[in-house]
Amino acid sequence: MEKIIFATSNSGKMREIREIMQDLGVEILSMKEAGIEADIVEDGKTFEENALIKARTIRDLTGCPVLADDSGLEVDALDKAPGIYSARYMGEDTSYDLKNASIIERLSGLEGEQRSARFVCVIAAAFPDGTEETRRGTIEGRIAHESAGENGFGYDPIFYVPEYECTTAQLSAEQKNAVSHRGKALRAMKEVIRQRVI
Ligand code: IMP
Repeated sequence: MEKIIFATSNSGKMREIREIMQDLGVEILSMKEAGIEADIVEDGKTFEENALIKARTIRDLTGCPVLADDSGLEVDALDKAPGIYSARYMGEDTSYDLKNASIIERLSGLEGEQRSARFVCVIAAAFPDGTEETRRGTIEGRIAHESAGENGFGYDPIFYVPEYECTTAQLSAEQKNAVSHRGKALRAMKEVIRQRVI
């Protein structure tokens, strides 16, 4: 069976990618399962660049096909911040309660469409022959006036999706995967893998 490494140490992401790719007949290994440890500096200027840096680094180390992702929250009223710096916004160790409260505070006085935002996810693939592909998925929403919901992680409690009349922290994992930036990007990359690897 073909092997693909997914360059993450996040077990939630591994579960999601395995669910989506399970019918491909490809074995997906985490970095740990592949026995790889790497400290990768994500110094790209875009989600695409950062995802490619991760995929390329592990491909060069292993010679295997490698997938990697990069994701974040873009708030239009904040010039698309925190964007690629979403994990590092206000410091990596700052709680999301504080990060979320800060974003709500910075949008005070804004209503409706002025609060538009999106989650972005880019999945990159780096193949042993040196070729590379990226696929982007997004979900459009608005920054809520207050946090709501216990599911998900990160900025989910303040990301309100008008279509579902709730935040992504109020969706079940299955509901979120069906509509999320990461689910969309992974399903698009699945088609690339189907054509390239199998
Ligand atoms: P990374 O792609 O693992 O580097 O994560 C980027 C950061 O973006 C996360 O740490 C979260 O702050 C944010 N983020 C990305 N996707 C989501 C999501 O689905 N829900 C909430 N926050 C997210």
